[in-house]
Amino acid sequence: MSTEQLKRRWWHNAVVYQIYPRSFNDSNGDGIGDIPGIIEKLDYIKQLGANVIWLSPVYKSPMDDNGYDISDYMDIAPEFGTMEDMDELIAQADERGIKIVMDLVANHTSDEHPWFIESKSSKDNPKRDWYIWKDPKEDGSEPNNWESFFTPKAWTFDEPSGQYYCHLFSKKQPDLNWANPEVRDAIYSMMHFWLKKGLGGFRMDVINMIGKPSDYPDATIFDSGVAGWEHWSNNLLVHQYLREMHDKVLSHYDVLTVGETPFTTTLDGRYYSHPDRNEVSMIFHFEHMSIDREEHNAVRKPFDLVEFKSIMSKWQDDLYQKGWNSLYWSNHDQPRAVSRYGCDSPEYRVISAKMLGTALHMMSGTPYIYQGEELGMTNKFFASIDEYNDLMAKFHYQKMMGKGIPEQDALDFLNYFSRDHARVPLQWNTDTNAGFTTGTPWLAINENYVDINAEQAISDDNSIYHYYRNLISLRKSDEYGDVIVYGNHKILDENDAEVYAYLRFYDGKTLLVVANFTAGNQTRSYDFQLKKVIVNNYEDDCSSIQDITLKPYQAYIFNVE
Ligand code: GLC
Ligand code: CA
Repeated sequence: MSTEQLKRRWWHNAVVYQIYPRSFNDSNGDGIGDIPGIIEKLDYIKQLGANVIWLSPVYKSPMDDNGYDISDYMDIAPEFGTMEDMDELIAQADERGIKIVMDLVANHTSDEHPWFIESKSSKDNPKRDWYIWKDPKEDGSEPNNWESFFTPKAWTFDEPSGQYYCHLFSKKQPDLNWANPEVRDAIYSMMHFWLKKGLGGFRMDVINMIGKPSDYPDATIFDSGVAGWEHWSNNLLVHQYLREMHDKVLSHYDVLTVGETPFTTTLDGRYYSHPDRNEVSMIFHFEHMSIDREEHNAVRKPFDLVEFKSIMSKWQDDLYQKGWNSLYWSNHDQPRAVSRYGCDSPEYRVISAKMLGTALHMMSGTPYIYQGEELGMTNKFFASIDEYNDLMAKFHYQKMMGKGIPEQDALDFLNYFSRDHARVPLQWNTDTNAGFTTGTPWLAINENYVDINAEQAISDDNSIYHYYRNLISLRKSDEYGDVIVYGNHKILDENDAEVYAYLRFYDGKTLLVVANFTAGNQTRSYDFQLKKVIVNNYEDDCSSIQDITLKPYQAYIFNVE
């Protein structure tokens, strides 16, 4: 298929900004970010140049997993605002050319959702089959040996009915039974409800896990991932359900859909995102997120740039013209990108954050910026387990304690990887609580807000924020837009363990992207003729790309031939 045959879609050159509402901006001093707070900051996002906002869940929820446990899909959590606020957000964003993409959390609901309350009430309740209930094994144990992301087992016993229910996440997040057509129809009509309000689409939470095989077989793989994943992720059922969802819902709107899909290969990626298959626009894969850890077993691995490059290039190449990539270094479940892949010391924080932005934003696909990434916000130091909020941090801590891992090592692991790093409130200015709230923030502010904050970044022409603005405007420009969005990709020097270099080429135009991932100088030669330096994260200049010395974390975008 040539580029000419790939039908252009509005989301191909979109740039998405992710908001974690709880931590973005608090408008009423209760310490929790909210929808009116987002509305206040829409111009900030518009000026950055993003034209889509992915909003993490704002639905009614008991907040066991901060909103990923929904008790009413058609209502807004009071701490975030009202349905009027939500309508206002969609309208105000629309006035600025920004579309709102909501989180669709449909693998599970809250146990406080009326559907589950009914389902649990008795074995012959009409909603019993809306969730996954199974008899114990003969010895009374769980129906199978599946594990869960947030608890040791994927099953919780319900005393009154004598059955277990399935939950791949917390026991307050029971999994819906997608095999039941009534469940699917209820989800589809809820999707219509929101899409009719003019949404720009959905980010689909762990959507690759909705298809559970009817025989619920035991897991056989225990040395990677959550036991059972080979059965409930990426199977034929999920593809059937997604195609049905497309037919019944998505085909009626022109929207961006992105599936969150752990445990996926590039082949799965094509199945999900090939335009002819009518499933979703793109997916979030996790291969590069597992590069430096085995998350489920809370084990840290050394970061290897060669492996990192091979993962990223494989996705670039395998999906080219056969699907669509989403591009991300961070989100609300990951540590801060600059602390993880760059260097967050005062000396290199700004320069390495710009380097990371360059390497990512020149790839093919749709880039996602997680709130605060454009400011180079860093991980925060958590001194004890009590300072964490996230239920996953607490689960991993318990697991590590259970294995006899020394407490300091467990805390060190969490200080690298906890999801709370991303959830620390956004740093707006140097006022008390970083201008996030006039009350007490729900999660402590990072003390480095006095130096790292949006007000500073906006007033400083050399900030990461303005650098990101430039990267975004290149993607949208007449001159380079097509080569960045639709160009072919080729990795250079794949075994180079310090420098990440790749080409993008389209219609006679060639870009060379070079990024030094180290704190040392690196000298390299590129066998091309330099036409123009398009971007350089340092202020010096260069006139040739033969024997070029890259400074620590230096990144360039060259126009070459
Ligand atoms: C996804 C979300 C994560 C949530 C989980 C359960 O991975 O990104 O935040 O905890 O699903 O819904
Ligand atoms: Ca609030």
